[in-house]
Amino acid sequence: MPTPQPWSQRFETALHPAIARFNASIGFDMELIEFDLTGSQAHATMLAECGIISPAEGEALVAGLEEIRREYREGMFQPGLDAEDVHFAVERRLTEIVGDAGKKLHTARSRNDQVATDLRLYLRDRIQQLQNDLRTWQRTLLALAESHVETPIPGYTHRQRAQPVSLAHHLLAYVEMAQRDWERLADVHKRLNWCPLGAGALAGTTFPIDRHRTAALLGFAGPTANSLDSVSDRDFVVEFLAAASLIAVHLSRLADEVIFWCAEEARFVKLSDRVSTGSSIMPQKKNPDVPELVRGKTGRVFGHLVALLTTIKGLPLAYNKDFQEDKEAVFDAVATVRACLEAMTILMAEGLEFQTERLAQAVAADFANATDVADYLAAKGVPFREGYNVVGKMVKTALAEGVLLKDLPLARWQEFHPAFAADIYEAIAPLQVVKARNSYGGTGFEQVRTQLRRWGEQLT
Ligand code: ARG
Repeated sequence: MPTPQPWSQRFETALHPAIARFNASIGFDMELIEFDLTGSQAHATMLAECGIISPAEGEALVAGLEEIRREYREGMFQPGLDAEDVHFAVERRLTEIVGDAGKKLHTARSRNDQVATDLRLYLRDRIQQLQNDLRTWQRTLLALAESHVETPIPGYTHRQRAQPVSLAHHLLAYVEMAQRDWERLADVHKRLNWCPLGAGALAGTTFPIDRHRTAALLGFAGPTANSLDSVSDRDFVVEFLAAASLIAVHLSRLADEVIFWCAEEARFVKLSDRVSTGSSIMPQKKNPDVPELVRGKTGRVFGHLVALLTTIKGLPLAYNKDFQEDKEAVFDAVATVRACLEAMTILMAEGLEFQTERLAQAVAADFANATDVADYLAAKGVPFREGYNVVGKMVKTALAEGVLLKDLPLARWQEFHPAFAADIYEAIAPLQVVKARNSYGGTGFEQVRTQLRRWGEQLT
């Protein structure tokens, strides 16, 4: 008599229904189905090529799996809890479609090497999507930067006004971060692109399979070399989640800046109605919900990284069912980071209006040009530290009198140091202060234009 569950005849009674629910991954691992089908097609092809099944059986399996793909894409393949997981669901449906040949698909493999293969194929695909998302993100920032080379914005350290910078320079900092994110993903891809299929449950197989062939059919660099490691390695998932976490970190940092930029205290940007929301009680409010959500969702992504590290810590070789817990973590991390990238891209592309007048005012209304006064003296041969102390005294005096440095008449400057001349006013004007920082990688307009050109070439 057939047993009601997918495993062997040694089982006499059905699972307790709550345990069936507890055990099953079909509720989430259907996300892997396309990769499961592709992996199985490669496996079937290899089995036939190696003479382990007949060519006709091989063809029937590949076609049957393709039929399941069609059914799935049309929304017609919706296995229930009784299938336990996507792998059983596919095998069962395959046998319905192609008959007894379907029962040969699982020759010389196990769900352990199968799920490890599926996950690698899945992540390889999602890494590519994320890399495309990152490129779109970079291009959006670049386009915005191109129109704001000579827009000054206060630059901060310790969230205290430090020195004004070009807004383009500020935006390009995030392009650099996104580039490292892109490269990190490429690096994760490099290490995950090895094929565990054929490692069997843990020890390899007695069949004369050709693992190099399966690996090649699936576009992997080659087969993994140790069967125990093949079924128990989840390093690539950890690496991916770490890379995803850093993307989330970078987005959260810009998100926080945008939130600050829209605050009444800064008023550097206005949010467009398409990306902001209102309050249910305070009719005057327009809230930056989008960047707040982006900032908030980082917690989820980090959570998945820590959860997976915790899950695999101390696990003995080889496969353990604990690994089933990796899937929801990685699926949610992918969905979350992609959604955040999309939302931030829309926000930066069409959600912000930089208030250039207000920005010009902001950079003219503080002591962020103090370093430039010290630099002015240094250029005239006054040792920097001496000039620095002179300017410290000047700032103290100006603060006490409630004026800015530019408001002091030349005679007062010269009381502080005889090297000051009329050209000091030009040297401390905000745009001049930004323009003058022309060292490589600095915010000077010439440097920024050089970087814009480099990114323009790289991102086309
Ligand atoms: N659903 C399982 C998982 O996600 C597939 C592998 C099951 N292997 C096993 N020996 N029970 O990890």
